[in-house]
Amino acid sequence: MLSKNIEQLLQDQVKKEASSSQTYLAMACWADTKGFEGAANFLYSHSDEEREHMLKLIKFLNERGSQATVPALDAPKKDFSSLMEVFKSLLEHEIIVTASINSIITACLQENDHLTNNFMQWYMTEQMEEEQLAQSIIGKLEMIGSDTSSLYLFDKELAGLAGAGN
Ligand SMILES: [Fe+2]
Ligand SMILES: [Fe+2]
Repeated sequence: MLSKNIEQLLQDQVKKEASSSQTYLAMACWADTKGFEGAANFLYSHSDEEREHMLKLIKFLNERGSQATVPALDAPKKDFSSLMEVFKSLLEHEIIVTASINSIITACLQENDHLTNNFMQWYMTEQMEEEQLAQSIIGKLEMIGSDTSSLYLFDKELAGLAGAGN
């Protein structure tokens, strides 16, 4: 059985993963309609991954004697000024999620909940990879600057990066 505190933290994390999935889906819609086909593919696939993260938590809660609640979500931001804004905001979002996973692990250690701690380690590794990937995309976009033909080529490359964090 999970403690009430850990159960609540995991439930809050379900909402954060669901919200990541919706946020990246809205970003994919923006990219898809602005001609950034590669970025759109990357973001659609990233949105799917976040849904998987949410499902993994839901199943863990259900298997550990709790019943997961499917959360209501606010509509995500739908308009962006550039691909750079999209990926900067994606990175900011991931940094918040990393902090949240970090505090779940801290709570697990305080309560000697080694099983949940062990389960959450996978998320920590995933966060590190996702942050690195977002960081490197931002770095490339910075190099590209206002060079539209390089941006066009990089967009094609982005499609290939989809799922690279897995
Ligand atoms: Fe996630
Ligand atoms: Fe993520």
